[in-house]
Amino acid sequence: MDTPVNILAIVGSYRKGGIIERAVDEILASAKEMGAVTRKITLLDKRLAFCTNCRSCTQVAGVNYGVCILDDDMGALLQEIERADALVLASPMNAGTVTAIMKVFIERLVCTAYWPWGAPAPKARRPGKSKRAILVASSAAPAILARLTGDVIKRLKYAAMLLGAKTVGTLFIGLAAQQQHQELSKRTIDKAQKLGRKLAAGKVL
Ligand SMILES: Cc1cc2nc3c(=O)[nH]c(=O)nc-3n(C[C@H](O)[C@H](O)[C@H](O)COP(=O)(O)O)c2cc1C
Repeated sequence: MDTPVNILAIVGSYRKGGIIERAVDEILASAKEMGAVTRKITLLDKRLAFCTNCRSCTQVAGVNYGVCILDDDMGALLQEIERADALVLASPMNAGTVTAIMKVFIERLVCTAYWPWGAPAPKARRPGKSKRAILVASSAAPAILARLTGDVIKRLKYAAMLLGAKTVGTLFIGLAAQQQHQELSKRTIDKAQKLGRKLAAGKVL
């Protein structure tokens, strides 16, 4: 029997049970029905410090992610990411971009690059894409407007790229802040479930 696809979702919403988390849950539930192993991490539950730009993690060459001097949950999170075949990266759009906590996470991904002092720019330690990613975003504005004026998907796609994941689908939920506890529309649920099945269907690219 094939080993199941291992899917890890990383959620950057500030609200448990909000639109983003419920959309991610739909994706994971449908992937699980297809036999995938799924896990969801909410960044708010983790201790993630700001990158201090010391660049210790970028100094040593090699394919291993650089080791951060900060003693928090980022190292363990990276190990979970390494074990995953596929990622779901999710964030509401706040002030036109990903949430601050998602941005902290993305900045900490500098360890995926080799960037010694003296080099003009970082170089990916592992160029290429061996994982797949689905990106999920939400906004108060209609999705089409939010996509035009904000950069949530661009930022999440960048994070996926740093983690060696090719983006194979996106879900952008507009008009997501009309009610305090807003329901997902049937259309959104259908799309989320379809994306979950897609992620579960292929182990690697
Ligand atoms: C501080 C803050 C800033 C926000 N900025 C925007 C924004 O720039 N554009 C927008 O369409 N919605 C904005 N929103 C609305 C959120 O995107 C919306 O509430 C969120 O997508 C719902 O996701 P959640 O249920 O997972 O919290 C903002 C919300 C907050 C709290």
